[in-house]
Amino acid sequence: MEKIIEESRQGQSLVLEQKEENTKKLFIESYGCQMNFSDSEIVASILANQGYNTTQNLEEADLVLVNTCSIRDKAEQTVRKRLEKYNAVKRINPGMKVGVLGCMAERLKSQFLEQEKIVDMVVGPDAYKDLPNLLKEIGEGRDAINVILSKDETYGDISPVRLNSNGVTAFVSITRGCDNMCTFCVVPFTRGRERSREPQSIMEEIADLHARNFKEVTLLGQNVDSYLWYGGGLKKDYIKASEMQKATAVDFAQLLAMVAEAYPKMRIRFSTSNPQDMHESVLYVIAKYDNICNYIHLPVQSGSTRILKEMNRQHTREEYMALVDKVMNIIPDCSLSQDMITGFPTETEEDHQDTLSLMEYVKYDFGYMFAYSERPGTLAARKMEDDVPEAVKMRRLQEVVDLQQKISAERTARFMGQVVEVLIEKSSKKSDAHWSGRNSQNTTVVFPKGHYKVGDFVNVLVTDCTSATLIGEAVGYSDMQ
Ligand code: SAH
Ligand code: F3S
Repeated sequence: MEKIIEESRQGQSLVLEQKEENTKKLFIESYGCQMNFSDSEIVASILANQGYNTTQNLEEADLVLVNTCSIRDKAEQTVRKRLEKYNAVKRINPGMKVGVLGCMAERLKSQFLEQEKIVDMVVGPDAYKDLPNLLKEIGEGRDAINVILSKDETYGDISPVRLNSNGVTAFVSITRGCDNMCTFCVVPFTRGRERSREPQSIMEEIADLHARNFKEVTLLGQNVDSYLWYGGGLKKDYIKASEMQKATAVDFAQLLAMVAEAYPKMRIRFSTSNPQDMHESVLYVIAKYDNICNYIHLPVQSGSTRILKEMNRQHTREEYMALVDKVMNIIPDCSLSQDMITGFPTETEEDHQDTLSLMEYVKYDFGYMFAYSERPGTLAARKMEDDVPEAVKMRRLQEVVDLQQKISAERTARFMGQVVEVLIEKSSKKSDAHWSGRNSQNTTVVFPKGHYKVGDFVNVLVTDCTSATLIGEAVGYSDMQ
């Protein structure tokens, strides 16, 4: 999920509304996926009740927390550099405490405390409610750790503080964990088994955002299509649910329809979909409601059926293509994006060509592409040799990236001359005289500000484009306004 987060947000420390009575200062940074950014909003909410306001100034912090990512080795190295930086500051300000949150905390457990001695506190993704106790421990000079994974924690009862928000778009998490066990992926180990959040608490969170004039929500989960509420507990225990629980269960299509129906003037997005769990009913719901954006992030990882099997993805190349055909039939102007991994163990040149030809077939609007990084403890690491030489992985990655850029440019150009609906999010990075927002298909659109303001829904006539951005002129408010 990390891809949709702009690079500039990675690591950014976040600010929230300040509580006057709070006297202590929290510096919190997030790396990795949207779920981490969303979790940091939960953590900030918990700590706001413990006397902490956030600060963007590391030097003045009483508590420094870093929400970490383990998805690739590089992500972990980035966090390690930050830990070095915090420790340098700590030498000047010895009262400062440092805590590691999220996936690296879960993966490395006590290693940070016992062997490396570079942090005071280690807190896994399901243990944030224990932060008040853990803070007490470190306040008394003891190291503190809680990396217990939960069966039912969804933080549904915590109202996140919107950190560094544009006041227009927000993430709302609907599931935690993942049961898919893709052989390359560390997430099932760091974030635990899949569980869904109660629809009522999701609806309440969106009602609150709506009341505060937010205009877009992104429903968030490692695998949103797998959402299933039947009264609590793990997804894998659904088979044990009673007849009554089954009769009243809510799946993703139903949840999506509920949200879209309740808030027709809000845009609804969701991320991430998994091809093996994506049901046709979701596509019909997207087609039915104008306020659900026509954009699906549909990671595939490889275009080779043999590699997909080795990755434990539960579909073939052909089944994926059939799903894409179905998407395009039901939602003709839908855009799609991919995640791709190059150089998975045993990947041959022929497998790689299959990836390129699949990309040509699907014509993804965007893509998030990575060289395979072996993660300790995963099935691929235990059973397969990381046998594709680094140079080959990187060359294949470059080919995949180049092809995606070519396809993205074609896809972006298809909007030329059209009127697209844009939700204004912020000033354009390149020009303060222009607004920046996205159309339904998730392509960035910039246009002269005129009399419009952040949060407006505007129709924009596209007159020009670069490979990834549409440029145009506002021609009036859209029906969503
Ligand atoms: N279902 C999740 C996937 C999280 S990981 C979601 O919500 O998006 C995000 C992407 O990182 C994956 O789709 C995959 O393309 C990539 N990735 C995961 N493990 C990897 C590894 N070991 N090496 C390289 N890329 C990896
Ligand atoms: Fe990872 Fe596969 Fe789940 S990529 S997050 S195990 S769907």
